[in-house]
Amino acid sequence: MAKLKVGILISGRGSNMAALIEAARSPGYPGEIACVVSNKADAAGLAIAAAAGIPTVTVSHRAYPDRESFDRDVSAALEKHGVEFVVLAGFLRIFSNWFPQHWAGRMINIHPSLLPSFKGLHVQQQALDAGVRLSGCTVHFVIPDLDAGPIIAQAAVPVLEGDDEAALTARILRQEHRLYPEVVRWFGEGRVSESGGKVAVRGLAPGATLLFSGEA
Ligand code: GRF
Repeated sequence: MAKLKVGILISGRGSNMAALIEAARSPGYPGEIACVVSNKADAAGLAIAAAAGIPTVTVSHRAYPDRESFDRDVSAALEKHGVEFVVLAGFLRIFSNWFPQHWAGRMINIHPSLLPSFKGLHVQQQALDAGVRLSGCTVHFVIPDLDAGPIIAQAAVPVLEGDDEAALTARILRQEHRLYPEVVRWFGEGRVSESGGKVAVRGLAPGATLLFSGEA
């Protein structure tokens, strides 16, 4: 079966991107990373992708008068590399409505909270401030509204006494690196469907769209 051609959008460190690149290296993985696009030339993730032999493109948002013309060029770069499926991995630009409409059903994001709780920025600190006992990460379809869109899978971690933002962030990130490659695998295997805002993943054991880590 042909592998799903995945394009990854980043703005920075790229640790989720690196986890996806690593997963895609294993022979049976049903996706291949066709290119990595950054809106920032100095994103650390670009060097990681290049070292892995993956084509990289920088499209600087500063060079564009409005969001949609930037979005159209990002899209053109993805399509030039044959991308069929877009994965946001720490991409820090807000899209015009055009981009998520163009990639509707073919674009996902990972967010470091259990959505719909804690949208926006510094969400690990928001979770600490709220005193929740569980947090985690969410993989969801991207729609024009920020940090919304049908939820595909989540991973939960405990919030422990004495946690600061860095500790909770690191605990969640370890689960992001497990969850994201797994979800992209499901897309590569053609298992994921969405109807009325609810996502179904065919052929998984019950509960497999929730990972739970009891790690401290
Ligand atoms: C992650 O915490 C992800 O959930 C959020 O941005 C961060 C990106 O980290 N969307 P990295 O660039 O993948 O290391």
